[in-house]
Amino acid sequence: MNPATSWDETSARAIIDAERSKAIDFLGPDGETATSLLPILHALQEYFGYVDRAAIPLIADALNISKAEVHGVVTFYHDYRDAPHGTHVLKICRAESCQAMGVQRIVDHLRNRHAVKPGTTTPDRRLTIEDVYCLGNCALSPAALFDDEPMGRIDEATIDDLIASAGART
Ligand code: FES
Repeated sequence: MNPATSWDETSARAIIDAERSKAIDFLGPDGETATSLLPILHALQEYFGYVDRAAIPLIADALNISKAEVHGVVTFYHDYRDAPHGTHVLKICRAESCQAMGVQRIVDHLRNRHAVKPGTTTPDRRLTIEDVYCLGNCALSPAALFDDEPMGRIDEATIDDLIASAGART
């Protein structure tokens, strides 16, 4: 499915219905609610690039659960975004090995030199920075992913180069 350029309710409803139908086909009506929520959220994020807050009541209605339940799941999983990400995405590992190898210094550099921090997108929407917890690249800590490309032993200079290559104004 191609990412949409903006939120629209008609597409969101179609995605929700399609994921519900798959669960019903697989488990019957009783298994629908328990098994549909995460696939619906995943499909919405894949299509729109994020899970718009306007989807929450639509999902709650479709699955006959409360909006609070849906909201709780969306906010529990850090992978679900509540706004579209930038053109480029830099994911920085904050788990143990990368912490031990100085990732905090890199995060401080981002904040002090470029005025950006994980969980945000630059004002020109060129770059989104996210925290992740272990990329399976611990031998090359501190590790990151830039547009899904693994990077190891990153340092302040790597960050400056990535920001320049993203064309982000910070
Ligand atoms: S702890 Fe960072 S890649 Fe494993």
